[in-house]
Amino acid sequence: MTTILETVRLVKRFAGLTATDDVTFQLEEGHIHALIGPNGAGKSTLINQLCGNLLPDGGKIMLGGHDITRLGPAARVALGLGRTFQVTSLLGEFTVRQNLGVAVQARRGHNMRILDRLSARSDVWQETDELLAASPLGRRSEIVVDDLSHGERKQLELLVSLAGRPKVMLLDEPMAGLGHAESQEMVEVLKTLRGKVTILLVEHDMDAVFALADRISVLVYGRIIMTGNAQEVSSSAEVREAYLGTEGEPC
Ligand SMILES: Nc1ncnc2c1ncn2[C@@H]1O[C@H](COP(=O)(O)OP(=O)(O)O)[C@@H](O)[C@H]1O
Ligand SMILES: [Mg+2]
Repeated sequence: MTTILETVRLVKRFAGLTATDDVTFQLEEGHIHALIGPNGAGKSTLINQLCGNLLPDGGKIMLGGHDITRLGPAARVALGLGRTFQVTSLLGEFTVRQNLGVAVQARRGHNMRILDRLSARSDVWQETDELLAASPLGRRSEIVVDDLSHGERKQLELLVSLAGRPKVMLLDEPMAGLGHAESQEMVEVLKTLRGKVTILLVEHDMDAVFALADRISVLVYGRIIMTGNAQEVSSSAEVREAYLGTEGEPC
């Protein structure tokens, strides 16, 4: 197995609180690796350090053999790191297909200023339509973003990120705010990505985590207390105790 992303003894402090406490973990290429833990465990803080929104106070982060610890977010994206679910970058008055076309065009390095320029590039549209064909959103390709449901927007944000062809995707709670049916559809979409892109998934929905994850790491008070498969994690007394000591429910 090849490690594509790893942290070594990563530390992040906020005033008196150690939000990431000596976190060492490896993300193996091709895996969907879930990160779970109670509220306040430090999951978002870890993701924010991986994508470069926060700089750690100690330790290092390696991506594909590069030390990215001190790089800014854009340099990390250039090295293959993708993420979604920050502030939306979608263009509300444009269609699903146009939004995705802009993302494909941007990755190809073409001038991304003007959509009518885009219409001239059949290679861009071909790639855009291939991405759409592999997604439930393919049925909605001519709908403008403002008319999409919340779940559809989240799917489009995911597709837009994938158009950048990242090696690793960081997903911080992609099911947040979704209804049951929408969550299930998102699980199906994420399943289609297995083996194509490596994913670090922070998620509260344990059904989704167990359906998707090859490996699960459990973070409690800034520390990874165990990493294992779904069966190992769900039967661990240590994990259960950690959750009982906090909120009772794994999330
Ligand atoms: N910018 C910040 N300033 C101060 N404290 C923060 C900041 N961000 C997060 N924290 C604290 O760090 C801890 C971890 O938070 P967070 O990473 O958001 O946890 P999670 O995503 O697992 O719920 C929490 O106690 C939180 O209050
Ligand atoms: Mg969080």
